Amino acid sequence: MAGISFLDEHRIWVLTGDSGTYALRLGEDDAPIHLYWGPALSDADVVELAGKTLPWWDGFNDPDEGLGELAADGGTRYWTPALQVRFADGTRALEWRYEDHKITGGHLRIRFADRHYPLRITLHYRLRGAVLERWTELSADVDVEVVRADSATWALPVFEDYRLSHVTGRWAAETQLRRTPAPHGETVFASRRGITSHHANPWVMVDDGTATERHGEVYGVALAWSGSWRLTTTRSSTGRLTVSGGFGQDGVVHRVGPGTPLTTPVSAGLYTGGGFGAASRAWHTYVRAHVLPHPEELRPVLYNSWEATGFDVTEGGQRALAERAAALRAELFVLDDGWFGARTGDHAGLGDWHVNRERFPDGLKPLAGAVHGLGMRFGLWVEPEMVNPDSDLYRTHPDWVLHHPHRRRSQLRRQLVLNFARPDVAAWAHDWLDRLVGEHGIDFLKWDMNRPFSEAGWPGEDDQDRLWVEHTRAVYALLDRLRADHPGLRIEACAGGGGRIDLGVLARTDQVWTSDNTDALDRLRIQHGYGQLYPAGAMAAWVTDNPNFVTARSVPLRFRFHVAMAGVLGLGGDIVRWSAEDLALAHELVALYKDIRPVVQHGALYRLRPPVDDGLVAFQYVHGDRVVVFAFRQAAHFNAPERPLRLEGVDSAHRYLDPDSGHTHRGAVLLAHGLPLGLPTGDFSSAVVQLQQKI
Ligand code: GLA
Repeated sequence: MAGISFLDEHRIWVLTGDSGTYALRLGEDDAPIHLYWGPALSDADVVELAGKTLPWWDGFNDPDEGLGELAADGGTRYWTPALQVRFADGTRALEWRYEDHKITGGHLRIRFADRHYPLRITLHYRLRGAVLERWTELSADVDVEVVRADSATWALPVFEDYRLSHVTGRWAAETQLRRTPAPHGETVFASRRGITSHHANPWVMVDDGTATERHGEVYGVALAWSGSWRLTTTRSSTGRLTVSGGFGQDGVVHRVGPGTPLTTPVSAGLYTGGGFGAASRAWHTYVRAHVLPHPEELRPVLYNSWEATGFDVTEGGQRALAERAAALRAELFVLDDGWFGARTGDHAGLGDWHVNRERFPDGLKPLAGAVHGLGMRFGLWVEPEMVNPDSDLYRTHPDWVLHHPHRRRSQLRRQLVLNFARPDVAAWAHDWLDRLVGEHGIDFLKWDMNRPFSEAGWPGEDDQDRLWVEHTRAVYALLDRLRADHPGLRIEACAGGGGRIDLGVLARTDQVWTSDNTDALDRLRIQHGYGQLYPAGAMAAWVTDNPNFVTARSVPLRFRFHVAMAGVLGLGGDIVRWSAEDLALAHELVALYKDIRPVVQHGALYRLRPPVDDGLVAFQYVHGDRVVVFAFRQAAHFNAPERPLRLEGVDSAHRYLDPDSGHTHRGAVLLAHGLPLGLPTGDFSSAVVQLQQKI
């Protein structure tokens, strides 16, 4: 059933993936028109449906209102434009002319041209399991200004009502889940910062207001892009909602012409019928199967020195931490900021990527050797896209940063953004990174990006706006090249915590630094929002010290561990100063994590109770015949009796053994009645329960 067919007679394409069907047709005027998105339908069903979808027309609406596959500006089309072009003679209205199409496996390309001007538009559709990927390609034989080029417009079925799910945030408070009735009119989720941003994340999910974690139809759209982006939901009084999105931002124009085509990033769409839980699981499956470069690998337990030492790094101090980390059975040791140039604080040195010899008299090789000798991999923090004005790089190349000639150069965190769209800057970055990784045997880079763009100009360049797209493309190209040339290299994406988490960066890195906020309670909420789309196997989470450096909260070590063990566990505290008791507990919990790691990193996530108050938070991972349940209770109120926790995703016909307690539970009882948690009394109690399916 899965596959793509073209119904010639009706000029209809039907695409059926793992979770449903998507269909479009050519209108009489050749414009690509949306037909259907939802549960699986046969070709015959789609043909019948095509006859039933009468266009809305009352003289003031456009004939295909909201149903353009890539809603183009011009003529009698008044919907939110996904494609806006301006030809040299001032003409704006695009008129579609169908040329041909090609189906290669699960990939459909439909080629169009403008009826008069030499502009070609190719719409791409690619089935990826339950997800449909879409993107757009533009090319032209004359110069065309492209005011907006979205990857796709997604039209939802007409529902009684619509609700949007998305995340908002800020530094140290990323991915806060919001659910809100969809406003009528246009709602824009966007980043104009040149990076994905902490403030919004490029995805939105839509339901009719009745979906729950376990039930109901959920539609999702996500964009694979790490620069500025824009997703617009449009809800009309005719009862329709569309989501259109792509890279770019208002006021920034792309130029397409001979030798300069434009390809948009992928917009991924997902329909699921099993509530928000099934939607997230389907996204996670997609990310693992089609996005992450090494999905089969288990991510190592890392140690990172940032919260322990800040900028005060020395070879001796790092060696001491590395020895402790190895004793705790960490597998990767990451030296964070402060190892290069005059980087003794955030005021200087960014851009001068040579080892600070006062701190590391013989370079990094002795430390790298010691770390390898301790049986760990060696990782290093870098921030290639940035420069401190107080640096040799900036003194030599003040023109390498984004800037306008007659404007101030606004500093954030005392740094400026290098213009990676410049080939000389990108070549410089490749040169030092390639050498650094090659010469030091570096296994892992934490690639940071600690400020948004400002004064984003490129004096002397004819088409300055292209830096918005090409900066991100150059970062992608550099990551791809480094990974190709150093196949053992693994990369963590970071932008002041979670400022660069998206499907684009996940396609070329191995994990993301979820947030600079490592407070266990805040993390439960951040991780809850993160996990709506992205999988736990890419979610870096550290155990750090009390009081927390962002929130000043103190939380018991076991609770801190349990929260971090729900993702890619890392240690980020000053472990040299941990007590013998804490070290013993840490040792035990690292070992437990390694045991459950395949279930956490590769399993299916079931959210049992979300972090909505200070009561119970619970979720579970299921992988093959193994189940791991995480439960957290922040505060115990009124000596309330504990309720059994009803599980999901277990097999009702099987029994499950808890190897720690020795108890056996019937799957049917776990589903219908629940698991007795036996959480310790008092505040901040937590538990990790393992269950093994018995034959
Ligand atoms: C950012 C990162 C931190 C740390 C610092 C170093 O804030 O998110 O984890 O690496 O930079 O300056």
